[in-house]
Amino acid sequence: MSSRQPSDSRMRPLISQLSEAVLSAPAAPRRVYFETHIRPMFRAIDREHMDFRMNLWEYLGPPSSTRLEYEKIHNRLNSSASDTVMPPPEAGGPWPTEWIDLFNRWFADGAPRLDLAVIDPSTLRAVRDPLTGTVDVYVEGTKLSDGHVVWLERHFDPAKLYNPYADNEFDLFQAQYRVLPPAPVHFVAEDFCVVPSPAISVSVYDSAGRHVAPIT
Ligand code: HEM
Repeated sequence: MSSRQPSDSRMRPLISQLSEAVLSAPAAPRRVYFETHIRPMFRAIDREHMDFRMNLWEYLGPPSSTRLEYEKIHNRLNSSASDTVMPPPEAGGPWPTEWIDLFNRWFADGAPRLDLAVIDPSTLRAVRDPLTGTVDVYVEGTKLSDGHVVWLERHFDPAKLYNPYADNEFDLFQAQYRVLPPAPVHFVAEDFCVVPSPAISVSVYDSAGRHVAPIT
């Protein structure tokens, strides 16, 4: 991203998502999620060569078949036979055991995905910093509990084999860090993003879909 380091004031809203009272609640188990931990292990060449059966960059569903699809992948990743193990040995495989262990932990946990937060569209702002050229994205909304953390990540389009990232699209994810009763809680999320200057707007996806803000 930018060569500039985020200043303390930029990081404050993210840090304050977990107040001291919240930090004293028990830590939630560190879960493995498809978007942040599993999908990045599938290379472009894996995605490309497996296209005849499945799109490895897409979360495989619908829910009734998710377990079946990931069971097939689980079996191939864990296979000890050189003619069935995936990725094939002649194409850079198999994975190191640490990667297989991570996949197995995720699969045993029910193959979870990240939740998207709910934003208040009227709060979405995108402001280009005249000094650095980066764009400050600011948004408020509702998260699932006080123990959840909300953050922006680049939106990923699994249908695109090349350049799955757009230069001005972001997802607003949430994950549980502390165990607290589920009750919708207000959040503020803010981050600085590299958005090339021809872009005149920023899109943020939440659980309701896509929201667009002009870059001012
Ligand atoms: C992490 C990466 C990969 C995963 C998770 C994966 C997963 C799988 C799965 C689950 C199947 C069985 C599909 C079914 O029965 O419906 C399969 C079959 C196959 N894969 Fe992959 N694959 C990967 C990478 C690759 C690569 C890089 C190639 C080619 C260079 C490849 C070539 C094939 C072929 C030709 C088959 C059909 C033949 C067979 O069943 O062994 N795969 N793969």
